[in-house]
Amino acid sequence: MSARSTRSKDSSDTNQSAVDQGETTAQANESPSTESATAHDDPKEIANISLADAERPLTLCIDIGGTGLKAMVLDAQGRQLTDRARIETPRPATTDAILRTLVHLVEPLGEFDRVSTGFPGVVQAGVTKTAPNLDPSWTGFALGAELTELLGKPVKVLNDAGVQGHGVVEGSGVEMVLTLGTGMGCALFVDGKYVPNLELAHHPFAKGKTYEQYVGAKALVKVGKKRWNKRVLKILAQIEPIWNPRVIYLGGGNAKKLSVILPDNVKVTDNVAGLLGGVKLWA
Ligand code: BGC
Repeated sequence: MSARSTRSKDSSDTNQSAVDQGETTAQANESPSTESATAHDDPKEIANISLADAERPLTLCIDIGGTGLKAMVLDAQGRQLTDRARIETPRPATTDAILRTLVHLVEPLGEFDRVSTGFPGVVQAGVTKTAPNLDPSWTGFALGAELTELLGKPVKVLNDAGVQGHGVVEGSGVEMVLTLGTGMGCALFVDGKYVPNLELAHHPFAKGKTYEQYVGAKALVKVGKKRWNKRVLKILAQIEPIWNPRVIYLGGGNAKKLSVILPDNVKVTDNVAGLLGGVKLWA
């Protein structure tokens, strides 16, 4: 089945956020932004190696987000062959719309040998089970198989926070990754081994709100940066004595909006780690 022939079910936008992720953006019907160095405010988003110097295999790393779709090609050592391309997540964010937009996004990126994809929901054996911030058509969708067919290369699909975690964990003890973006991602690693699909985001937290409703992008817009920062501290204080992680890494597009002093074992990571982790998935 191709992207064109995938079924697109009708649904409403469940949780769209217009929060500015501070990233270079393009509308879904425009060209994705990729090449211009000045289009990126973070130098880590810019290509730093040429194809001639790259070490194979080349990994096309895709991050499907509730607000943006992102992609770049990395070599075997995690060096960037392309700038990070980004385009707005189409709405409604159906399987069909996202696959078509992804094909458009990766088309200018050139050669790659394999594909790693971060997905904002539960993924089991390449099949997406939930997608709280996308569209119901993702329930039970064989994303891995579809992308393999569309892109003609081997594909791995994992929860987005899981991919990010692969890019940042040190591999010792219990390490937790929380991503602050449209939703709240969570990934747990024990001695470097990933424990998949820990969906802390939807666990009740305070005043009838889940963690995600408390610190997700909608909450940030609603309560403003100052209160949102305090909320992040509150969730960290709740998580710490229950999970006792050695380190908590905070990533995602909104992590750069953190201005409070964080506990010693909490580290803010680069948003690009979400894509860099894609190479490690194949280790
Ligand atoms: C999903 C998680 C995802 C997170 C960040 C949540 O709504 O349930 O699986 O990691 O959003 O995208």
